[in-house]
Amino acid sequence: MNLLGISGSLRDEATNRKLLAEAQRMFAPESYVEADLNLPLYDGDLEAADGIPEAVTRLASQIADADAVVISTPEYNQSISGVLKNALDWVSRVDGNPWANKPVAIMSAAAGRAGGARAQYALRLCMQPFRPRILQGPEVMVAASHKEFDDNGRLQGEMYNKLLQELMDALKAEAGR
Ligand SMILES: Cc1cc2nc3c(=O)[nH]c(=O)nc-3n(C[C@H](O)[C@H](O)[C@H](O)COP(=O)(O)O)c2cc1C
Repeated sequence: MNLLGISGSLRDEATNRKLLAEAQRMFAPESYVEADLNLPLYDGDLEAADGIPEAVTRLASQIADADAVVISTPEYNQSISGVLKNALDWVSRVDGNPWANKPVAIMSAAAGRAGGARAQYALRLCMQPFRPRILQGPEVMVAASHKEFDDNGRLQGEMYNKLLQELMDALKAEAGR
């Protein structure tokens, strides 16, 4: 299966990117791509003048080509990051809807004690217009995420590892349906 990973945090050391790497390891897909959300800010004038940026059409194709998508979101002020919302908005401007019926798992890594729980709810709402098949759980919410990965990027804690494996098994099963 082809798996696409999407991180709502761009930085190199993002714990959401580390969580995606662990998710990919557990899913064990035939091929894996991590999306690049470093896109221009959505601007209707830019779209009218130059059309949809190539990086956006690439992202839409990656979503369309994936058998399953895993999204890891940080929590910014109790919601998703602007980076992630911007990407969702841009992709919605591409012809067709690559999210339709797509099996999607969502998870979060955040500094706070709730591990990004509110961002996950916000993400579900943001994705509702696109009608993907978002798994209901298990919920993987890594709290104090800066402390939960070792120097090799491995996720610490038996419970987190168990939940992430369950989420990836559920995503694989959903993609196989
Ligand atoms: C603008 C901003 C707002 C934030 N708001 C929250 C928040 O509401 N809840 C929370 O748990 N962490 C919040 N944080 C901390 C992030 O969870 C933390 O930076 C996290 O490590 C980001 O994920 P990353 O490691 O993948 O970059 C915020 C960080 C930033 C930059």
